[in-house]
Amino acid sequence: MAKLKCLLFGLLLSLCLCDAVKILAVFPVPSPSHGILGDNMVKHLLDGGHEVTYITPYVSKQPSHPKLRIVDVTDNTNFFSDKMLDVKQIMSGAMNLQDNEVLFEIMVNIARLTFENPNVQKLLKDRTYKFDVIIGEYMFTDLYSSLPAVLQCPFIWFSTIEPHSMILSLVDGPVNPAYYTGYLLPEIAPYSFSTRVRELWTLVKALYQNNAQFYAKEEEIYMKTLAPIVREQGRPVPNYNDLKYNASLLLGNTQVAIGSSIPLPQCYKHIGGYHIADPVKPLPEDLKKIMDNAKNGVIYFSMGSNLKSKDLPEDLKQGLLKVFGGLKQTVLWKFEEKLPGTPKNVHIVQWAPQQSILAHPNLVLFVTHGGLLSLTEAIHFAAPLIVIPVFADQFLNAKQAQHKGYAIKVDLSYHLHEDLKVALDKVLGDLPKYTARVQELSVAYHDSPMKPKEALNFWVNHVVKTKGSPHLKSVALQVPLYQRVYLDLLAIIFVALIVLLIVVKKILCLVMGKKNTKVKTN
Ligand SMILES: *[C@@H]1O[C@H](CO)[C@@H](O)[C@H](O)[C@H]1NC(C)=O
Repeated sequence: MAKLKCLLFGLLLSLCLCDAVKILAVFPVPSPSHGILGDNMVKHLLDGGHEVTYITPYVSKQPSHPKLRIVDVTDNTNFFSDKMLDVKQIMSGAMNLQDNEVLFEIMVNIARLTFENPNVQKLLKDRTYKFDVIIGEYMFTDLYSSLPAVLQCPFIWFSTIEPHSMILSLVDGPVNPAYYTGYLLPEIAPYSFSTRVRELWTLVKALYQNNAQFYAKEEEIYMKTLAPIVREQGRPVPNYNDLKYNASLLLGNTQVAIGSSIPLPQCYKHIGGYHIADPVKPLPEDLKKIMDNAKNGVIYFSMGSNLKSKDLPEDLKQGLLKVFGGLKQTVLWKFEEKLPGTPKNVHIVQWAPQQSILAHPNLVLFVTHGGLLSLTEAIHFAAPLIVIPVFADQFLNAKQAQHKGYAIKVDLSYHLHEDLKVALDKVLGDLPKYTARVQELSVAYHDSPMKPKEALNFWVNHVVKTKGSPHLKSVALQVPLYQRVYLDLLAIIFVALIVLLIVVKKILCLVMGKKNTKVKTN
């Protein structure tokens, strides 16, 4: 009997293991917010019963789980870390993180380091383990889409920010710059004439850079790091270009209630908000007490995980304390150091459970850097915002939130405290309006057929079940850009016009010539 039970149990176990989808999750960017997105995605995939191999620089943070295998790329932190992001440098303009070329250089090198990493090479060379699907984080480089050359399974992009021309061009085509290009220019349509022209120029430049400059570098890395493994496997090496445009799906850390409603290809799926704990974790006792007792409401101030407020200039810190001290609300400030002369209504916290704070009914306002995770949490918990964007997509996010009517944007500068005071007066003076607006958006955000984490598991399963979901692939990928924008037709019209001009000129010459000769003979 015991033997039979053992046998049955073994059979069941093997069935379970066979059923589990084997996923490779590639999140090698050493930045805390990217870690949050990777960790939570892996958690939901494990909860969905899948077997996950996780490439991450955040090894110590990972739980032990029988179906989780970690591939350590901690070495990536040697090359890049958020400690490099100094507020003072950004404020003085010495560091420009809006520049496509700068971002590409950083990110393509992270991809190279990841592919060269001995742990990753070992994983790629292991032929005993077969993956069903790869999920790769898109961060200004297309390189991860070449992994299927070695692993022979469908590939899914995961995009951490609002959709933009660069990522969409990989699965469909760039969007129309007359109303949208994404983070490249922080503008909200409808545009003025000059902005429309600038958007077009920005898009053309980015597409040129991507195809002319960046492509060669990526292909070179692909040929150096992955192609040899493919050859070892005894297969022909696929063309990098074919791999680049062969993703099965694009998962976006987005929701349309948060961003712009733009045409998106069928393979684009919104899963924004999946990183938010459900149900939200309870607040620690001390914070709970502060928030419960805040009769005039709580303002939460945090510049996110990237920027350390201690890098702020000293005058600015004192200025901020003074502004906060003059408010009747309680202020929770996430800050890495204790400040002397902190007013009674200001509480400095080194560590803050942001989601639980935003979920508290006494929260009235969130002052944030405008990262997409914070923005999503603000809409999830319906908190009005003041946004102080610092880099990358935060400028677009800030403008978007202001445009939607639940936020005010404030520029990061040496007189931030003065500008912040003006913005605080404005929002707090009209709080019901801002709150009502964010509540409306929150309803739109929550009213959905599937929760974000369910959508994540559903679409990953869908790709595996349908062997790479070729039915979702955009037909636009088969149409070259010049055909899509009718450059061929324009060329024909142009040539026809020139021919017509020449013919008309010739005829006129002939007629005039004859007339002239007639005149002469007369
Ligand atoms: C493109 O993806 C599909 C589905 O995953 C796969 O069958 C095909 O071999 C891929 N093509 C290339 C060139 O890798």
